[in-house]
This record gives sequence, C-alpha cells and structure tokens, in this order.
Amino acid sequence: MDTFIIQGGVPLHGEIPISGAKNAVLPILAATLLTSEPCVIRRVPDLSDVHFMGKILRSLGASFTFENGTVKVHAKRVRDKGDYDLIRKMRGSICILGPLLARKGKANVSMPGGCVIGTRPIDLHLKGLRALSAKLDIKEGYIQAKSRKLQGNEIFLGGRVGPTVLGTANIMMAATLAEGVTIIESAACEPEVVDLAHFLISMGAKIQGAGTPRIVVTGAEELHGAEHDVIPDRIEAATYAIAAAATNGEVTLTDMRCDHLAAVLDKMREAGVRFEARGSSLKILPGGEIHAVDVSTQPYTGFPTDAQAQLMTLMLRAQGLSIITERIFESRFMHANELARLGADIAIEGPSAIIRGGKELSGAEVMASDLRASAALVIAGLMCSGRTQVNRIYHLDRGYEVMDKKLRKLGARVKRTKEK
Ligand code: EPU
Repeated sequence: MDTFIIQGGVPLHGEIPISGAKNAVLPILAATLLTSEPCVIRRVPDLSDVHFMGKILRSLGASFTFENGTVKVHAKRVRDKGDYDLIRKMRGSICILGPLLARKGKANVSMPGGCVIGTRPIDLHLKGLRALSAKLDIKEGYIQAKSRKLQGNEIFLGGRVGPTVLGTANIMMAATLAEGVTIIESAACEPEVVDLAHFLISMGAKIQGAGTPRIVVTGAEELHGAEHDVIPDRIEAATYAIAAAATNGEVTLTDMRCDHLAAVLDKMREAGVRFEARGSSLKILPGGEIHAVDVSTQPYTGFPTDAQAQLMTLMLRAQGLSIITERIFESRFMHANELARLGADIAIEGPSAIIRGGKELSGAEVMASDLRASAALVIAGLMCSGRTQVNRIYHLDRGYEVMDKKLRKLGARVKRTKEK
C-alpha cells in the first residue's frame, strides 16, 4: 500500500490547476447508460473512482476508454445486471440504478455498502424510483428493479437531513426517459447535480430548475450521444486553498469556479485568511493570525461536509476554541483521533468537534480512514514540524488527482513510497 512521507513546515508557494470534479463525473458516466450512442466526456480527473466506474460500465457491456482526461463511453447494448462485487464496493455506483432501469425496464444492482463516514442509506433513491412506478425488491444482496415504462410523478425527495445528492441524480436520470412530467421537490442544489443536468440536456433531455429545490423533467422517447466538459472540483479547490492558508503560503488556484466556493471562502475570510477571488482563479495570500470560527456543514449552498475535515486542520492554527458541527454524516470525525497524534487538541461532543487551536504540532505516523480525512491528514502533515507518514493513501487516490505531484509543484516535501 502507498504511503506519503511529508517533511512539514514549508509554506506552499506557486500555482496549480484544479481538476474536473469527481462527484460530477461519476453520475455523468452513469448517465451514458441512457443512450445507445457514443458519448465523450472531457476534463475527467484520473482517479481510481473513475477507473472503477469504467470497470462497472464495461461489466454492463459498454465500451470505456480513458485517454488524457477524455473518456469515451459507448453503451450500444447493455446488460441489466452488473458485477455484484464491483458495484458493492463503490457507493457512487448506486447512480447506475436509475439509468439502467429507464433504459432496460429492468435492473439488478448490488446494495452499496455502508462506509466509515456513516450508514449511508438509499431509502430516498428507492422511494423516488417507486414513485416513478418501478417495482423494487431487495433479494440476495441485490436491488431488483422492474418497470415496463417509468411514469412521471411528483416526488418529495427530502430526507432526515435534507436533500440527497446522488438520490436527486438517480431520479433525474430515470425521469428523462419516463412517460410524462416528473417534479422533484426538495432536490439537491449542488453544482454537481447542475452539471449532470447540463449533460442530460445535451443528450436531448428536457430538464428545468436544476440548481433549485424544484426540478422538472419532461420525459423523452430516447436520448442521444453527447459531449461534455466536467466542472472543476470545488472540494479539491477548497482543499488546496485551506492547505495554502494552513501553511501560511501564497498559492494561486486556476481553472476553478470561485462561485461554487462561496461558503468556504466566507469562513476563510472570517478566519482571517486573505485572498483574491477572481472568477476562475483564487489566490491565497500569506497573512497574520488565524481566528477560531464555528461552522456547521449543510447542503449546498452551505458549508460542504466534504471540506469539514480540511477546515479542522486550519483551526489547529487558530488561537482559541472553534466548534465544527457535522450535520450531514453521523460519524465523519475519524480524522480527529489521528490529528491528535500530531498534537491537536480536539474533543468530540455528539455531532460537534471542539478544537482548541494554537498547540504545537509535530510529525508522526497516521492512518487515513476515508477520502477527506486523508486530505486533512496531509494538510496537517504540511503544517507540522518534522516528518509525518500518512498511511493508506489509496483513499486519497480515489478523489484527488496526483495530489503528491501538485503539492510538490507548490514546494511541499512530499514523497510517495510503499508502506513498510
Ligand atoms: N440519505 C438518506 N437516504 C438516502 C440517501 C441519503 O437518508 O437514500 C442521507 C445520508 O445518510 C446523508 C444525507 O442524506 O445523511 C446526504 O447524503 P447524500 O445522499 O447527499 O450523499 P451522497 O449523494 O451519497 C454525495 C457525495 C459525497 C458527499 C455527499 C454530500 C458522490 C459520489 N458522493 O454522496 O461525497 O459527501 O454527496 O454532499 O457524489 C466525498 O466526495 O468524499 C463524498 C463522500
């Protein structure tokens, strides 16, 4: 297994481009199952999750190639049953259910597993598909879905903590080939949902309201092939912006969308970070003291849960107490214990982490538990004096394109080696 060895204490300095968004491209790849014509997706990040999705599409009978950030998928004919083990392993693969069912009238997809950040139910995905008149059974670990022709309907998709991102994506995709009009109320407003809607519209789908809590889809007979450029990854941008501030560096991020980062930038400003945000580029400037801020994660446009762990590392630099409350996933504080190995003082009280910043941090061996926790540990390693070893970097490779190379370009002393 790969590991990162980080010699910390160097402020990041320089310029890097932001890659295409993982959480936009996964549902977009699933959407290619809606047509028998070829699709071309550009600005695709080279991530293990993307290659994994490619394997899933191939297991369904589609052709999938990835070259220099461009993916070509041709799902000329597809099977209605995917490889059990492949699908089970990646949570994002649940979004093949809607497109397969809409295209084939039948789908057998393994139940996705839970994961370390929480139980991750799929009841809202199932509720939405049932509302479109699908018959669903859970048998032998598979979701077995059937419908002669999906029927448009009004669906309230809000759950216990609000909207669901992949649930909205799944139902929106299924509705594109349903008979009549589907109205999704309490839809997720994330930019990744909007990007998927743009791709579907370029395939011939009729969708209005993406990016608002009410999405209206008018079903079409069929969709055609299309080309698409994936939006920049707002979470990757947030991660490097926070890494720059946490090391008191001067970093310019290019090829990104500052408007997708409003909540993160607002918190950074409140924390005393100086920056210049100009459309597609963001320059983080070195500055003085970092102030403690409180934050609760929320659905978009609120502060994203996927940047919560990273912000926690910035708060390690702040004098005073900050409180970070996780409202989306119930156990997304796995990084807190590992940060403590580096000298952080963090107490977990229910859904909140109380961070007493300003402590001396020193390098140690830590273990990544999930994608964003890994990013937080890497940032903390950059802040520490001495050597930090971050194990189980495969979590990071799921969602950050060549992170070690990008960090080295910014002057960080990061080396990838094999875990001993
Ligand atoms: N939920 C339900 N029932 C459902 C679906 C979700 O109760 O049927 C609950 C979840 O348990 C959670 C909340 O609704 O409490 C929101 O979950 P959501 O469905 O929005 O999450 P997701 O769509 O499965 C995507 C991203 C996550 C990101 C969340 C929230 C992808 C592949 N994953 O997951 O990304 O944290 O939205 O923004 O798009 C990551 O990139 O590190 C990551 C975990």
